[in-house]
Amino acid sequence: MIAHKPVLLEEVIALLEPKSNQSFIDATVGQGGHAHEILSHTHPDGRLLGIDRDAPNLNIAKKRLKPFGARAVLVQDSYANVSTHAYAHKFSQVDAILVDLGFSSAHIDDPKRGFSFQQEGPLDMRYDTRQKLTAAEIVNTWDEDELARVFRKLGEETYARQIAKAIVKARVLGDFQTTTQLAELIVKNKRRGGKIHPATQVFQALRMTVNRELEELEKALPEFVSLLRPGGRLAVISFHSLEDRIIKQFFADKQKNKEIKIQTKRPITATLSEIKSNPRARSAKLRVAETV
Ligand SMILES: C[S@@+](CC[C@H](N)C(=O)[O-])C[C@H]1O[C@@H](n2cnc3c(N)ncnc32)[C@H](O)[C@@H]1O
Repeated sequence: MIAHKPVLLEEVIALLEPKSNQSFIDATVGQGGHAHEILSHTHPDGRLLGIDRDAPNLNIAKKRLKPFGARAVLVQDSYANVSTHAYAHKFSQVDAILVDLGFSSAHIDDPKRGFSFQQEGPLDMRYDTRQKLTAAEIVNTWDEDELARVFRKLGEETYARQIAKAIVKARVLGDFQTTTQLAELIVKNKRRGGKIHPATQVFQALRMTVNRELEELEKALPEFVSLLRPGGRLAVISFHSLEDRIIKQFFADKQKNKEIKIQTKRPITATLSEIKSNPRARSAKLRVAETV
């Protein structure tokens, strides 16, 4: 079932201007929302390589993009390996690359995937379930300092140390098994208040650690630029301040070297009406650069 609404769809299309006879890489194709729109604009011969780590999302994208036949090529892997797949499927020197970072609504909606603190599920959080590291392994085996560092850095969690200490103390009695077990411990160890659920930041930090989200982005950004033709465009949508900082800095360095021209002086954000219909769009930031 399609659960994910693509964010900033109109803005992405306006900036990438997909046309017939062009080729694209959607590095996080997800359920294929952006990809479907791009392929519709490139009738009759535009091509798109879609990559995603998540098998269930990719299966939905496969069904959704079936009408485009061989114009859509889909691969399950991390976009950190984008060059291998681009060369294998003849997608080097493409016209544009889109990267829409993070998780999709389908991940949160399915308790079995372990991303949600509101519904009971295993502490998993892997996009690619073939991977070994899970959130349970981090919570049950990492030491207090490592846990506190991750919660502080990736979750910007004020109570990072207290929560890490409480986890280490509690797990002596038995491993953490479920999302709700961890969420309850976090609630007990934070002062009340704030608009978001108390477990939001720790869960975000765990998800980003399990999936090495910042590391994969840092590795892939230079590869994306080298896969674009001169005048090709790279569009990146991020949802976290550390991701946005990496992209902003990378674009600034490449522009200084005269390799790209930044097209979005400030990041593009969602309109109020989009946020109303899709609250997830609230924190989305779109940055676009063009190769020289
Ligand atoms: C925000 S969703 C993309 C939604 C998509 N644009 C759509 O319209 O359906 C992000 C997707 O990125 C995938 N993902 C996260 N990290 C990834 C990585 N390193 N490599 C490939 N896919 C990744 C997730 O599995 C998820 O499906």
